[in-house]
This record gives sequence, structure tokens and C-alpha cells, in this order.
Amino acid sequence: MNGDFTLYTPTKVVFGHDAELQAGALIRAAGGTRVLIHYGGQSAVRSGLLSRVEAALDAAGLFHVSLGGVVPNPRLEKVYEGVALCKQHGVDFLLAVGGGSVIDSAKAIAYALAEPEYDVKDLYEHTRTPKACFPLGVVLTIAASGSEMSDSSVISYEDKKRGCNSDLCRPKFAIMNPALTATLPAYQTEAGCTDILMHTLERYFVNGSRMELTDAIAEGLLRTVMHYALVLRDEPENYAARAEIMWAGSLSHNGLTGCGNDAGDWSCHRLEHELGAMYDVTHGAGLAAVWGSWARYVLKNCLPRFKRFAETVMQVAPGATDEETAENGIAALEAFFRSIGMPTNLKELGVSPSEEDIRLLAHNCAIAVGGRIGSAMVLREADMANIYRMALN
Ligand code: NZQ
Ligand code: ZN
Repeated sequence: MNGDFTLYTPTKVVFGHDAELQAGALIRAAGGTRVLIHYGGQSAVRSGLLSRVEAALDAAGLFHVSLGGVVPNPRLEKVYEGVALCKQHGVDFLLAVGGGSVIDSAKAIAYALAEPEYDVKDLYEHTRTPKACFPLGVVLTIAASGSEMSDSSVISYEDKKRGCNSDLCRPKFAIMNPALTATLPAYQTEAGCTDILMHTLERYFVNGSRMELTDAIAEGLLRTVMHYALVLRDEPENYAARAEIMWAGSLSHNGLTGCGNDAGDWSCHRLEHELGAMYDVTHGAGLAAVWGSWARYVLKNCLPRFKRFAETVMQVAPGATDEETAENGIAALEAFFRSIGMPTNLKELGVSPSEEDIRLLAHNCAIAVGGRIGSAMVLREADMANIYRMALN
């Protein structure tokens, strides 16, 4: 029935100063004994975080082995490497130290270990659904993807970027020390804020059922993230602002902001995933680059929501008509994106697909979503191509 929902957020959140020092005890409490510490490039090594986490595991008497090298838009090849290493060492718990890319790679390894008779790629091809998953925990270093509490894992392979969604992969715990995000480059901080906004916006622009409380939570989250994204632009070391953004990142994608609001729209995410697959762009920036074009394309089909967004979130002056008010809201969010250094079209994102590329992007997107996607407006392949065209510059 419309408005019914299930909210499942089993992840224990340990938030605040020095929280990473609890990693060993948390793994022990979750039943882990032999741990793969999974991380990305050099940021966690340079900051000393990795050493601190290793020391915490040593103090808890845990065996551990490490595997770094996860790249943004994480690759399946690294997943296979992790699986082999885990099998070699009898690993029974995964600890992701990083952002969405590292967490998603750890989730994929965890799936593969739980069902070793299958190729984990099947899950991302959607030819099989997961039946089991090894336990994992997270030490979060960037507020963005929400993967630390989400049911999702997104992996890139060949020329594809595909997600697998299942409650089985929700982390046992998420360690969130906002201070760990202070070393982020400004662009990653703001791309992260954009992704956080988008996880709530995707759930907000729906036709059909909605709940007032969910809308109020969503609108509060959106206003809070926009406020603190600007604070962090000017004061990247501001702990309180880092904390607000980090908590918003988790709440934006653990399901809370969608309760009772159908299943969300998700078109922008699917359009962006194809850009990520073709051009390896930063996820949050890719979302900002398509959002305005998507919004204008679907506006008339979801006018009351866009009007409410304009008034309640962007707090624009009313226009002569509801449509004008709604358009002012879209322009205001685009202006906000520009103010935090995010692109509002593909040219600003740094990519210029040809007409042939656009057709391929739309075709691949349509295949990935089974032909149609969206709630604000249901999009098919031709619509997807139109939105990419509108987003060119
Ligand atoms: O690799 P290192 O050296 O750590 O550098 C990373 C990376 O270059 C850097 N970074 C992270 N923490 C840092 C830091 N640099 C300095 N100090 C720190 N504390 O930031 C860069 C980006 O990291 P990444 O993990 O890629 O960022 P994000 O968390 O935005 O994750 C993006 C991935 O998550 C997917 C995206 O599609 C993309 O593949 N998503 C996953 C979701 C999920 N599982 O629920 C939902 C999202 O919608 C999204 O699709
Ligand atoms: Zn996202």
C-alpha cells in the first residue's frame, strides 16, 4: 500500500573524537577474529589513520592483513584480489577504512567470500541475488556515499558501473570521527556534500505517497547540509561543521529520508553512474552536472514537489506562477552548486560527449534500469538521451 515502509538500519554508529580507537573492540563484539583491513590510495596511510587502526586491532589481539589500492569508482579486479587474499589468510571480517569506494569494494569481497561457489560479478549483473555476506565494519574518512549504513555496493568493471542492493551488506558498525575528514581536498568535501543532498533529493521528488514528518526530516537535512557545505568551503578545519555533514551523510542514505515516500526517483544517480562508467568522474560532481537538466525535464510532471522544494528548502521569493516558483528553486540549487565549486553541466564537469556517446550513455542506462526509471517522471531511453543533451552546456 502507498505509504507503507520498512526501515532497517542495523548498523551501530560510533561517532566522535578518536572513535577509530574502538575498532578492535567493535570487531571482537561483532564476532570477527581474522580481519582484512581494506583501504584506498595513500590518504589513510599519510594521515596515520591506518597505523592507529592497526594498533587498535593489535590491542584487541586480532589477526589482520591489509589491502590498499582501491580507486574511486572501485574496480572488480581489486575485489578479486581481496577475495584471494582473504581466502589465503582465512579472513572472517572485513574492515573498510575509507569512503564509498573502499566500503563498496569491501562489501563485494564480503559477498564473494560468503558464496565462494559463484562469481560475485553475477550480483552486479543482476543474474543472481545474494543469499549471504561476510560481516564488515567501517572507519569512515569521507562523508558522501552513505555506504557506511546503506544496503548498496557499486562496482565498476569493463565499461560498466553497476550496483547491488541487499540488506545483507549493511555494515555491523560505522566508526565516524569527523576530524578524519579534515584532510579532504575541498573538491571532495563539496562533491561529498552534493552526494548527500542528492540521496535525500532522490527520495524527495516523487509522485504518490508522502509523509509530512519524512518531508520535514528531509527538508531539515537539505538545509543543514547546504549551510555547512558553505561553512566548510571557508573553514575546512571546522569540526562542528564536519560533524554535521558526516551525520547527514549517513542519515541521507540509510532509508530514513524516504520513509513513506515511495521508493524514490533515482534517475540522476542512474544517469550519473553511466557518466562514471564512461568518464570516471567524481560521483557527486557528476550528479550536480545532470541535476538541473533532469529537474527542468521532469518539472511539469511533479510540480507540487518542486514548488514545495523551492519555498521550503531554497526559500526563494514566490514567482508569478507555481511553475515560475519551481523554476526559481531549481536555479537556486544550481547557484548553490556553483558556489561550492560543483559543475552544473557536462562541460563544467570536464566531459563533452558526442551525439553517438549520448546515445550510448542513454542506451546503457536504459539497460541498467530495465528500460525505465523514475517517479517524478518515468524516463525511458529517449528521455535519458534528451537529459544528457540538455546537460551538455
Ligand atoms: O584513495 P584515497 O587516497 O583514500 O583518496 C580518496 C579518494 O581519492 C579521498 N579521500 C577519502 N577520504 C579522505 C580522502 N582524502 C583525504 N583525506 C581523507 N580523509 O577521496 C577520494 C574519493 O573517495 P571515494 O571513496 O571514491 O569517495 P565517496 O565516498 O564519494 O565514494 C564514491 C563511490 O561510492 C559510490 C559512488 O558511485 C562511487 O563509486 N556510491 C556508493 C553508494 C552506496 N554504496 O550506498 C551510494 C552512492 O550513491 C554512490 O553511488
Ligand atoms: Zn550517491
